[in-house]
Amino acid sequence: MLVVDYGAQYAQLIARRVREANVYSEIVPHTASVSDMLAKDPAAIILSGGPSSVYEEGAPSTDPALFEAGVPVLGICYGFQSMARALGGRVAQTGTREYGGTTVRVQSAGGLLGGSPSQQTVWMSHGDSVQAAPEGFEVLATSEGSPVAAFEDRERRLFGMQWHPEVKHSVLGQEALERFLYDGAGLAPDWTPGNVVAEQVAAIRAQVGTDRVICALSGGVDSSVAAALVQKAVGDQLTCVFVDHGLLRAGEAEQVEKDFVAATGVNLKVVDAADRFLRALAGVTDPETKRKIIGREFIRVFEQAAREVVEEAGESSAEVRYLVQGTLYPDVVESGGGEGAANIKSHHNVGGLPEDLQFELVEPLRTLFKDEVRAVGLELGVPEAIVWRQPFPGPGLGIRIIGEVTAERLEILRAADAVAREELTAAGLDRDIWQCPVVLLADVRSVGVQGDGRTYGHPVVLRPVSSEDAMTADWSRLPYDVLARISNRITNTVPEINRVVLDVTSKPPGTIEWE
Ligand code: XMP
Repeated sequence: MLVVDYGAQYAQLIARRVREANVYSEIVPHTASVSDMLAKDPAAIILSGGPSSVYEEGAPSTDPALFEAGVPVLGICYGFQSMARALGGRVAQTGTREYGGTTVRVQSAGGLLGGSPSQQTVWMSHGDSVQAAPEGFEVLATSEGSPVAAFEDRERRLFGMQWHPEVKHSVLGQEALERFLYDGAGLAPDWTPGNVVAEQVAAIRAQVGTDRVICALSGGVDSSVAAALVQKAVGDQLTCVFVDHGLLRAGEAEQVEKDFVAATGVNLKVVDAADRFLRALAGVTDPETKRKIIGREFIRVFEQAAREVVEEAGESSAEVRYLVQGTLYPDVVESGGGEGAANIKSHHNVGGLPEDLQFELVEPLRTLFKDEVRAVGLELGVPEAIVWRQPFPGPGLGIRIIGEVTAERLEILRAADAVAREELTAAGLDRDIWQCPVVLLADVRSVGVQGDGRTYGHPVVLRPVSSEDAMTADWSRLPYDVLARISNRITNTVPEINRVVLDVTSKPPGTIEWE
């Protein structure tokens, strides 16, 4: 299923809701040509909402050829209006904006609204509205501000609605989406974790054949699930490499051995590269430069490890061609790899890779969101302690020290971070929050007082966030007593820190990590 993005934040949400209906979905920008879209052989297409008015100069339009291809299409909000216009219907500015919860009257259930009550609350956000449906379309629903609030041409399998079915406030939104997918487009709900595993195992076998593979294992859920998938596909051809880049949190390396290796029996090689990373990062303060350096050093260490894996196996002539990474869909989109997306930051494993990469990448999770990766992990039998681990970025504490990264600063941050994690776990909050980065403002100092003496220490920032997929996030409203305990313990046990502050910014505008 393709979601055509007309520039709204809703396209991601639509793609997720479609996947929740067990149908695989991908996003393409509205600037893609019809032939490019059709080249992907979609079983159905959804046109998303968008911020424009169809009458604005330069507003995205929809090529009528899209509707001639025999592929079922659902237009939503702007996509609905654009579809109406392209097919000869009439769209106008009525001056009546509908925003938020709105009542629609269903006058004919048709295929799209079958089984729906005659009145229902939906979530609207529009200024223009469809005044007359194109020829051949039946009007299904109306509202105060939308004479045509939903329509369909069952024969041509073209459907549209003014409201946003992907938003939870549209009470029967998911039902309407599913009716489009299952009844309108005739799709089967067969995109399940079990099928993802089977599909990816086959794809990995086809890609790597009998060659050796190494996997960048961080101990986080993404790389662990990627490794488990590859192990299922090619067994002992896989060696996992755990790079201790010195930017890890307390206890991290031990946890990988204890949880993952014990559960899966995967081949593991641990590389201590802390000095090398610290040397490469010396004097660097710019976030993107740090990310690029860490990405580059990662790969160089892997190249070395790959040579050793071959040597240790006594296969002097062979080489490792494949590198497994736990790259996720949001990493790809945020690194500008999703077509039409802006580069927000170079995730170390996507935009941060060196140009002369020696490996071919194996990225079996590249199209998945985090919750889907967790479902695949459980399906594969990856231990729950790993599946439910909170995300930790590949560049580690290197991007949580604002300023130059040094061994001393890492020690300080590690100590503060350990306190925060212990207290959050003790309060039973681990599953309620997405993650809680602790950020050291290493170049900032402030005056404090402790034991009758003046201190001139550094602040740390707590950044607890709630999120569904890290694309958007809100700051978590942690209980005050938990915050107080974290603050007290950090300032009492980490001498260099005399202030603990709380980040209360959602994403957007702030990203989750500070760098
Ligand atoms: P941002 O800061 O972009 O983070 O809002 C979104 C999520 O991604 C994690 N993150 C990374 N993960 N390599 C990773 O593996 C990276 O370079 C990276 N940068 C950010 C971050 O912790 C959050 O969960």
